Amino acid sequence: MEVNHVELVMSAVDPAQYPTTGYPEIAFVGRSNVGKSSLTNVLINRRSYARTSSQPGKTQTLNFYNVEDKLYFVDVPGYGYAKVSKSEREKWGQMIETYLTQRDQLRGVVSLVDARHAPTADDIQMYQWLAYYDLPTLIVATKSDKIARGKWNQAVSQIKKSMGLQNTNNIIMFSAPKKIGKDAVWNWIEDQAFG
Ligand code: GTP
Ligand code: MG
Repeated sequence: MEVNHVELVMSAVDPAQYPTTGYPEIAFVGRSNVGKSSLTNVLINRRSYARTSSQPGKTQTLNFYNVEDKLYFVDVPGYGYAKVSKSEREKWGQMIETYLTQRDQLRGVVSLVDARHAPTADDIQMYQWLAYYDLPTLIVATKSDKIARGKWNQAVSQIKKSMGLQNTNNIIMFSAPKKIGKDAVWNWIEDQAFG
């Protein structure tokens, strides 16, 4: 999709704050600092619309981005950040679970993993949880620019094996600075949102 108009419409914690327009929604989940905001920025052709930072755990709310008055991207705060307190983690868990299990407009979840490493226990748990709730999921292996091209197949196989996938159809190697994988991610999103 050619994106010209994007607007952060809501930073929500509570379902009462979710947008009421009814556009399809695509959520972005993944470990803190994995690159969710960076991926979102590449998809919408902005350098730094969604806030990115080298400091993990920055995004604390569900951020709804209106994309072209056609769909919402929902930037979900990252999991697995050790330095947040137990009560904060529980609050986070409840907020995410409520959104992911109760949102009718949610059409698909883009689940990010770090291409350089095997998926973490948290990544695997998140994937299994999404599968359990039958949420269409795309695995995006980001920061792929940080490993040699020759290691890409191995990274994809590792993800397939760790997540227990039947095939590699829904795994995409991505790089934010090089914009690799952008079209493939967009194709999947458009299929889920409008297909
Ligand atoms: P939280 O909002 O804290 O959960 O983090 P996030 O998942 O939104 O990560 P963010 O997009 O803020 O990126 C974290 C750091 O990783 C930043 O320093 C980015 O510049 C860097 N980064 C993200 N994607 C890539 C990528 O594809 N390649 C490289 N080399 N760096 C990346
Ligand atoms: Mg972020």
